[in-house]
Amino acid sequence: MFKNTLLQAIDAATIEIRRFTDLEFEITNKEGINNLVTEVDHASEKAIIDVITKNFPGHHILSEECGDLVQDSQYKWIIDPIDGTVNFAHHIPICCISIGLEHNGKMIMGGIYNPFMNELFIGERGQGVTLNDKRISVSKKEKVANACMVTGFPYTYLDEPNGPLQVFERFIRRGVPVRRLGSAAIDLAWVACGRFDGFYEHKLQPWDSAAGFLMVEEAGGKVTNLKGDEYSPYEPGIIATNGIIHDELTDVINNGWPV
Ligand code: IPD
Ligand code: CA
Ligand code: CA
Repeated sequence: MFKNTLLQAIDAATIEIRRFTDLEFEITNKEGINNLVTEVDHASEKAIIDVITKNFPGHHILSEECGDLVQDSQYKWIIDPIDGTVNFAHHIPICCISIGLEHNGKMIMGGIYNPFMNELFIGERGQGVTLNDKRISVSKKEKVANACMVTGFPYTYLDEPNGPLQVFERFIRRGVPVRRLGSAAIDLAWVACGRFDGFYEHKLQPWDSAAGFLMVEEAGGKVTNLKGDEYSPYEPGIIATNGIIHDELTDVINNGWPV
């Protein structure tokens, strides 16, 4: 029943996103520089929320553009109607709908769909993860030096020790490839299916990672905060890997390369 609702919500959002493919759409700025929202984000969000509230009128909803729709419920749907809005606004086909479902504070299900690449990732606690109905798992890479990594940067500059640019520089100076796709949910889904060996980011929101972090765990990987402690999507930093390189990556992020 939850999964049907998740799939229906993704379908409804996809119709909205595709409806705008050849149309001009309105783009406005949120807090920060180039932190965009389009009328398509709002249309996708409305379509998702309509499906969820029709099926589960008592469930709590947390969604990026409309915030917390609080209900006294054990269930909470966490929604990013378009993750990768800057890409979407520039017609770069790397963006997705991301929906996670929490039960008593624990993520139990997540769906990520890129309507341009037709890739649907579904993760369920204890049941693994699929990409277009085929079971996926994380990579087997053993060393950070040989890994293919991905990260993202916040819309506001974080000038702090081990901040985004400092850590990025550390990898680039060693020749470790670090991609920047512009959608944290896709970054996580692509760690889950083994395209990337590791992902880290300093400042995310719950809707960016809710579905994707569960997928990495269910695909056999590991997810922690930036310090290497237990992860919560309600704190900003994340490290998500195939598990094998996790401790080494956490160490490089916090302390630099060993001498
Ligand atoms: C953004 C993307 C991006 C990440 C930003 C997020 P949005 O979400 O996930 O990869 O680096 O921090 O805000 O704004 O496209 O939904
Ligand atoms: Ca997002
Ligand atoms: Ca978004």
